[in-house]
Amino acid sequence: MRKNIVAGNWKMNKTLQEGLALATELNEALAGAKLNCDVVIGTPFIHLASVVAAVDTKVIGVAAQNCANKESGAYTGEISASMVKSTGAEYVILGHSERREYYGETSAILNEKVALTLANGLTPIYCCGEALDVRNANEQNAFVKNQLDETVFNLSADDFKKIVIAYEPIWAIGTGVTASTEQAQDTLAFIRSAIAAKFGQEIADGTSILYGGSCNAKNAPELFAQPDIDGGLIGGASLKVADFKAIIDAF
Ligand code: PGA
Repeated sequence: MRKNIVAGNWKMNKTLQEGLALATELNEALAGAKLNCDVVIGTPFIHLASVVAAVDTKVIGVAAQNCANKESGAYTGEISASMVKSTGAEYVILGHSERREYYGETSAILNEKVALTLANGLTPIYCCGEALDVRNANEQNAFVKNQLDETVFNLSADDFKKIVIAYEPIWAIGTGVTASTEQAQDTLAFIRSAIAAKFGQEIADGTSILYGGSCNAKNAPELFAQPDIDGGLIGGASLKVADFKAIIDAF
């Protein structure tokens, strides 16, 4: 059966020292705790190796927030999936709306990144989600389906089974406006039905689908109680251990 996952996305926050302190504090807070979900933290690239060394990776999985769409070579400033893998990280967040919007990530680029992530034995946390105008026009299902059709729905069933999906409506990210429980559940149920239509019910039932967008300690219990919400991708609230731990404890 699918896993529950609470994944933090630190974005471009925390110096190396601050990030190490945060990871170490989280590690201590979770040591010996009975957890009903997998915990992941998505750190900046330069933190990865140090954070992996500082935490019990059986309790806290470590994620990169991106990787290059090329394997290696003359791509100044880029970080490859194999480099991420060599740090001991296990996940890569891909297709975050901030990467799509500010760094021009297209479906074609994301297909390359997903393929390289999988080829290096890393788990993609693949993000999708609509902007406010799409939601207002009630076209979110078609929009998200198209994002999936152009990318991860091209994978083989065996590869698709290895990925995690995160639905993050852009209007809810960092805005303090959370999707209502009903909106989140409805969209995740739709995504699961689309997976079932493409890959079959068994794979759909085995896929972890996360909600992201202003998820916090207050709204997490109700969100995580929904049948199709298997956890959260957490931005702002992952930057403080007490807040993040409270979300983990919502399971
Ligand atoms: P937020 O960010 O929790 O700060 O809204 C979520 C995300 O972008 O992953």
